[in-house]
Amino acid sequence: MNSRTKANFKTLLIIGGAGYIGSYVNKRLQQEGYETVVFDNLSRGHRSNVIRGSFIQGDLADLSILESVFKQHSFAGILHFGAFTDVGESVKNPYIYYQNNVVNTLNLLHLAVNYEIKSFVFSSSAAIFGIPVKNLIDENHPCAPINPYGRTKWLIEMILQDFDRAYGLKSCCLRYFNAAGADPEGEIKWHPRKETNLIPLLLRSLQEPKQEVTLYGSDYPTQDGTCIRDYIHLYDLAEAHIKGLEQLFESSTSTAYNLGNGQGFSVKEVIDAVERVTGLPLQIAKGSRRPGDPPILVANAMKAKEELEWKPRYPDLDTMIAHAYKVMV
Ligand SMILES: NC(=O)c1ccc[n+]([C@@H]2O[C@H](COP(=O)([O-])OP(=O)(O)OC[C@H]3O[C@@H](n4cnc5c(N)ncnc54)[C@H](O)[C@@H]3O)[C@@H](O)[C@H]2O)c1
Repeated sequence: MNSRTKANFKTLLIIGGAGYIGSYVNKRLQQEGYETVVFDNLSRGHRSNVIRGSFIQGDLADLSILESVFKQHSFAGILHFGAFTDVGESVKNPYIYYQNNVVNTLNLLHLAVNYEIKSFVFSSSAAIFGIPVKNLIDENHPCAPINPYGRTKWLIEMILQDFDRAYGLKSCCLRYFNAAGADPEGEIKWHPRKETNLIPLLLRSLQEPKQEVTLYGSDYPTQDGTCIRDYIHLYDLAEAHIKGLEQLFESSTSTAYNLGNGQGFSVKEVIDAVERVTGLPLQIAKGSRRPGDPPILVANAMKAKEELEWKPRYPDLDTMIAHAYKVMV
């Protein structure tokens, strides 16, 4: 039986599947033969992003609607993308972050246990590591998040470890570095939102009326003085989800993986690449460093490569930018 045929027997619950990453993972899972049910309150996602599978509009805070979804389906696994994701907002308003990302996730975990779900894939983040103590961050790097958003992700990782020990809920925590790019087939469009990631921020600034983008710090100890970050294409993130999920089905062992392409790009390199790909000049203003911004933040993704046989297909910066640009214009 090939994996496509096996997948046909499985229905998955995708929380937050109307958002940027979840909607594309939903599409890829459908292409692999899974049935999917997307559950999203559309607080930050869009109904039109859910181009395959069924959709239920609901909030994780609403236990009755959430439980009705578990009663209607027999899920082989859950992928949980539903969260608030803006670091700056989490510093200003930590209450809504702990409420949504932690308390509401507990609702979901409680039902997952009650309905005997065994496989849970969680969208974690590089934010759990805080200030890096080395340049290439592997899974053994200490976890010391420096903002409420990062702490909510780390709390859920620890809760998942406890739920495995106590209830046998197996999880795969995927710590993404910077998600980038877009649906390579261009089917899922980009919706304007408060951009915090560099590539969409730069691309947005090119749209009318043109805006200036601030470059925070150009005196870092890097080759061109700007911060270096790790960007991972949406397609490669989706592949890691599929592989992580299928590993859970097969091995029933909880685990965590750092997901990046392992190659950092400086802010200056990203700026140059955006101008190269779009053929348009950016308006950049030089600003000072932001507190808490480490000079280099790059994943060591060897564990995912070895254990999941995962290899980024689109590690190239220009491709990530071109795919994002295609769905924005
Ligand atoms: N984008 C990145 O670079 C990045 C990096 C690391 C981790 N992550 C994590 O990946 C996940 C997805 O990120 P994204 O960029 O696609 O964000 P997003 O905001 O586009 O998607 C999140 C989705 O969850 C939904 N949601 C939020 N709270 C909900 C609730 N209470 N009930 C139901 N639905 C709810 C939103 O409406 C939205 O559609 C998040 O958990 C985020 O923390 C993202």
